[in-house]
Amino acid sequence: MANRRDLPVAFRWGASTAAYQVEGAVDEDGRGPSIWDVFTARPGAVRDSRTGEIACDHYHRHTEDVALMRDLGLDGYRFSIAWPRIQPTGAGSANPAGLGFYDRLVDDLLAVGISPLPTLFHWDLPQALEEGGGWLARDTAYRFAEYTEIVADRLGDRVPAWITLNEPFVHMVYGYALGIHAPGRTLMLDALPVAHHQLLGHALAAEVLHERGHAVVIANNLSPVWPASDAAADMAAAAAYDVLHNRLFTDPLLLGRYPDLSAYGVSPDLGGCVRPGDLELIAASGLDGLGVNYYNPTRIAAPTDPGGLPFTEAEITGVPRTAFGWPVVPDGLRELLVGLRDRYGDALPPITITENGCSVADRPAPDGTIPDQPRIDYLAGHLDALAAAIAEGVDVRGYFTWSLLDNFEWAEGFSQRFGLVHVDFATQLRTPKASYAWYRDLIAAHRAHRTG
Ligand code: FCB
Repeated sequence: MANRRDLPVAFRWGASTAAYQVEGAVDEDGRGPSIWDVFTARPGAVRDSRTGEIACDHYHRHTEDVALMRDLGLDGYRFSIAWPRIQPTGAGSANPAGLGFYDRLVDDLLAVGISPLPTLFHWDLPQALEEGGGWLARDTAYRFAEYTEIVADRLGDRVPAWITLNEPFVHMVYGYALGIHAPGRTLMLDALPVAHHQLLGHALAAEVLHERGHAVVIANNLSPVWPASDAAADMAAAAAYDVLHNRLFTDPLLLGRYPDLSAYGVSPDLGGCVRPGDLELIAASGLDGLGVNYYNPTRIAAPTDPGGLPFTEAEITGVPRTAFGWPVVPDGLRELLVGLRDRYGDALPPITITENGCSVADRPAPDGTIPDQPRIDYLAGHLDALAAAIAEGVDVRGYFTWSLLDNFEWAEGFSQRFGLVHVDFATQLRTPKASYAWYRDLIAAHRAHRTG
């Protein structure tokens, strides 16, 4: 049986974060407001009314955080760039102080041999763009390309690969369909233009990046879909859900067409927002890599509400759960990766796992250490599953765990700790957890193997 000790020699190790979840400093150096600043101020929007105003104070403590990454032995660090630091109103000329922060971060990473892997959009849209419709407006895609140009011109001499968007599916569903995340809109299926405009923005940004010789990646949240039974109605519901979660973004990118959305009563041009030439542009964006964010599979049953969505989510039973309540199914990662290869064949670019990890109710033990065995078990299980997928022929190049630090977990505030490093949010004290030492040792053993 393949396991994590058999990963290929060139396999890269990393950790991920996102700007609004770690940076804090929301009013500093000319940063404009983002949709998350506005959303977190809404009563009841976030657990315990918490905000990312300070978060992990990474904006001021990045030197300490880069040292933690160096000691961990990372090959790469995936972080996101806050668009409102670069263009405070989402348009117009660049804010030099905002660019300066990422410029220093990139230099600090390179100085210790860590490759920067920036994500250009991890959900913190400038509020001014939201006022013009956010991703419901086609114009946001063009603004995104303009912002990409500014950032690529400044950092491109040192950053060869970029992630355009983080989880466009989750952003659309949580942000625009259900209202659980910023911008907090509850449009249900009327949120679908958000899918198309994000893809268009990705494609326009990819053009900018490719013109400069850079590699382009998108990070999608993907989930194996399990029908609740083999009854026809459950199978049909699972197929409908799969279209939404796994195919809505990957099919246009890799096959040049939207999947069949008829189960949702939606036309192939997504209610008219797809214009002639758009799909060609999206397919031509030529992904150099697919980023896969995997947390758990999804179990789907036939709909219970006849007038509603064509599926219902069913519980996965008989498996451990994270502190968040998410089911722990490591083999789901192998299933997902093999399924992607089988579905897309030669159209599938090399894969990097851009997020995978779990929340644990970690707290310091009396001796000051932070034991987090459930996280070690989670990571070990998923890395074994990843090695198994590679042994089955899937081209996976690297693994970025979510997350380096405990951080602001969106609607859950600070209640879910995903970090390898514990953060005391009252003092900002960082304490590496047991999983940090475990990951460090795993990376060192792999490195010894690859150089030895
Ligand atoms: C993903 C997000 C990331 C983090 C993890 C737990 O959906 O991309 O920012 O919140 O979930």
